[in-house]
This record gives sequence, C-alpha cells and structure tokens, in this order.
Amino acid sequence: MRHWVLITGCSTGIGRALVPLCRLAGWGVVATARRMEALADLPLGEDLRVLALDVTDAASIAAAVEACAELRLKALVNNAGYGQVGPLELLRTDELRAQFETNVIGLQMVTNAFLPLLRRERGARILQVASMLGRLSIPLAGAYNASKHAVVALAESLRLEVGREVAVVLVEPGAIRTAFRDTLAQRWGDLPERGRGTRWEKILARHMAVRKEQADRYAMDAESCARRIVNALNAAVPPRRVVIGHDARWVGKLKALLPAVWWEWLLRRAYRLG
Ligand SMILES: NC(=O)c1ccc[n+]([C@@H]2O[C@H](COP(=O)([O-])OP(=O)(O)OC[C@H]3O[C@@H](n4cnc5c(N)ncnc54)[C@H](OP(=O)(O)O)[C@@H]3O)[C@@H](O)[C@H]2O)c1
Repeated sequence: MRHWVLITGCSTGIGRALVPLCRLAGWGVVATARRMEALADLPLGEDLRVLALDVTDAASIAAAVEACAELRLKALVNNAGYGQVGPLELLRTDELRAQFETNVIGLQMVTNAFLPLLRRERGARILQVASMLGRLSIPLAGAYNASKHAVVALAESLRLEVGREVAVVLVEPGAIRTAFRDTLAQRWGDLPERGRGTRWEKILARHMAVRKEQADRYAMDAESCARRIVNALNAAVPPRRVVIGHDARWVGKLKALLPAVWWEWLLRRAYRLG
C-alpha cells in the first residue's frame, strides 16, 4: 500500500512543483488548493487526489481530513502562505491579522487536524514551510517576518511535544522564483496612497519598481527548491531544518557574525531608508 503526502497551496509555486516530484518518488499525493480549478491540469492517476482546502477555513480542513481518513497519510507539507508587504506604521490591523490567519493559525489548524492520521504511520513527518525570514527580519515586510518567526517557534515547540511520534521539519527557503512576488505586489493595495506625503512615498515607489526584479534575478527555481523538500520527505531520518538557497544559508550566518549596528546599517542602506 502506498504512502501519501498532503500538500497545501498547490495552485502555483513550490506546492505545484512538489506534486510531480513527489509522485515520481513513489508518493501518493493529495494536492490541495483553495480553488479546485487551479488543480484541473494535473495529470490524473491512482497516485493523485485533489481536494479543495483553504487553510483559514475550519470546515474546509475538517472535510479534507475526512477525505483522507482511509489513506496511509505519512506526510504533511504545510506550504500555503503569502507575503504581506508594507512598513509597519502604514499596515492596517486587518492586514496584519490576515497574514497571521493564513501563515500561522491556518498552518497550525491544518497540523492539528491531520496529526491523528499521521500518528498512525511509523516514520510520519510534518514539513512546515517557513522562510529565511523566520530567522531574521527585513524592513517593509514586518508582518511576513513575524508570521514566519511564529512558524519557526510553533514548529520547535511541536517537535518537543510530538517529535518522537511524528517528526517536525522546518523548511527555510531563501528567494524562490514563484508567483509569490506577484501576490505580494497585488497586496500593495492602496499602500502608495497611505504613504503619500510621508517619508515612505519615495521608499515605496523605489521598492515597488526594483524589488521583484532584483529578487527574481538571484532566486532559485521552484523545482530545485521542491527537490530539496522531497529529499526531506524521503529521508530515513528526517532533518530538523532544511535551509534552501545560498542566500538563506549565508545571510543568516552574516547576521550572526556582524555586530548589530553593522547589520542594521547594511539593511537600511539596501532599502534606502536613510
Ligand atoms: N517564493 C519565495 O521566495 C519564498 C521564500 C521563502 C518561503 N516561501 C514560502 O513558500 C510557501 C509557498 O510560496 P510560493 O513561493 O510557492 O508562492 P506562491 O506561488 O504564491 O504559492 C503560494 C500558495 O499558497 C496558497 N495559499 C495562499 N493562501 C491560502 C489559503 N488561505 N489556503 C490555502 N492555500 C493558500 C496559494 O493559493 P492561491 O493560488 O489560491 O492564492 C498558492 O497556492 C509560502 O509559505 C511562502 O511563504 C516562499
């Protein structure tokens, strides 16, 4: 009987890249997305189930658990997430709340809901997709930084609590070329208007103009990132952390090495914060 992995956020990006790679590695895949039509082009097969799953919707999570009750679910990849941009002083409370609803509370709701199924399988594992921004913070992304720091904290507590039964793996990518930065841009909303006439006006205009291009230039492709995640799914002894990309590896080390005042100077300079 095949083992199954459930992946959240398979409409695009890392989640989508994981689906064929996991199937190729012999996993049955429960590919989930908020909109079923986003999964319509996946090649059908006995090793694929598609489900609607919005991680912020408890009823949708409960329905997904029920649909998986008969499967030998051995792994869960909590991949769904998005980035809310904007300087903290301009951010609306509902934007901050929504960021946590998806990236943090949704992730933990899905985790808790699937734990009983995972516990049935020896060697089961939960992969929590955090970010290098779960270990360090950059400006103009405070809500996202905070949500990913929370993912790291939750995973470390969960590992202490249930790690002997179900392994908990933190996936910490650097910049990956996906739909992430397009979604990010959509979420600017009326941010430029909110910043008009303040010191943020010029900073935001520049950020909007160059950030995506700059980040995508150095970003890793989604498939290479997904390959690293599949390695952790297949590993006999699951790693505690999977740090993906040169940026994720080196920027964290640089922060640890540099005096705080230099580190902050570098970031202020990079973001032209004056
Ligand atoms: N790309 C990067 O540079 C990068 C770096 C570090 C970490 N990450 C993390 O990697 C994960 C995947 O992101 P990605 O880069 O692959 O970006 P992406 O292409 O934008 O994919 C994000 C996925 O999350 C889904 N999603 C968002 N809100 C959801 C919700 N409430 N319920 C269910 N699914 C939801 C999206 O679905 P819809 O299509 O329905 O919106 C989409 O399928 C995220 O957790 C992100 O924070 C990304």
